[in-house]
Amino acid sequence: DWSMGNFIDMEINKIRQIVGDKKVLLALSGGVDSSVVGVLLQKAIGDQLTCIFVDHGLLRKNEADQVMESLGGKFGLNIIKVDAQKRFLDKLQGVSDPEQKRKIIGNEFIYVFDDEAAKLDGIDFLAQGTLYTDVIESGTDTAQVIKSHHNVGGLPEDMQFQLIEPLNTLFKDEVRALGTELGMPDSIVWRQPFPGPGLGIRVLGEVTEDKLEIVRESDAILREEIVKAGLDRDIWQYFTVLPGIRSVGVMGDGRTYDYTIGIRAITSIDGMTADFARIDWDVLQKISVRIVNEVDHVNRIVYDITSKPPATVEWE
Ligand code: XMP
Repeated sequence: DWSMGNFIDMEINKIRQIVGDKKVLLALSGGVDSSVVGVLLQKAIGDQLTCIFVDHGLLRKNEADQVMESLGGKFGLNIIKVDAQKRFLDKLQGVSDPEQKRKIIGNEFIYVFDDEAAKLDGIDFLAQGTLYTDVIESGTDTAQVIKSHHNVGGLPEDMQFQLIEPLNTLFKDEVRALGTELGMPDSIVWRQPFPGPGLGIRVLGEVTEDKLEIVRESDAILREEIVKAGLDRDIWQYFTVLPGIRSVGVMGDGRTYDYTIGIRAITSIDGMTADFARIDWDVLQKISVRIVNEVDHVNRIVYDITSKPPATVEWE
């Protein structure tokens, strides 16, 4: 009989058979898919697995630390964390076109990954969190970028990897069930979708460290309050954006001229279409008050009430 427990045993055997005593490389993004692959491979081959985790500085608050603590600490994955914040910010300087930003972030990710991979010796396999749906259509995970890249031979000539894709027969809900069966926490297993370019496309226009900070802090407050209100499983995706406009406000005796933060929260089945979430006014009010009080240079909060279509989920 098929069960998740059986699936794990069978996969582990299969991976051991394929890999033997060779070494495997995995690009860890912090997302559900690559994390589950990492934990599964760790169970199967232990330290024959090396993970590369690129911190591009566009992650959410505490995200990099959580990946390192949970996957590196509790689950014992062998992770090389690359602090590439400056590299990405430098490349993004002066760039405001959304697609241009995506391209720069995607390419830089590959350069950083390749640089690190080139330092490692004797890697034969590249593991990826490709899902069954990715086999059919191209997915949205950062790992997909690596895939298309490596398929066209972006790595140095002497580096030839064989692919391992242990999730490529599974749907997303099965991957979550697998993660839970592997003992992974809900914070990873039920992590909301997060785009590869990260906060880079939530600071509209040119990305600066100051603006990233505003989005990161406001987003952390939003997430905290959504979880507190018990809404995190009902809302498909929720985040803040910084449109970059400033408006007049009043605080104490003085006028302020500060940034507006937009809140985006949607319900969806697959991200292809979406409806804005009907969040309770009281919850929204609490979030609004907290963000204005706790995040410097924000004096106004707006709630995005457009569906997809005609809007998209992200603002860029
Ligand atoms: P849109 O904004 O296109 O978003 O309605 C649909 C889903 O895709 C995610 N998204 C991305 N994911 N790289 C990604 O890996 C991207 O460039 C990207 N753009 C959007 C978005 O967060 C939502 O879940």
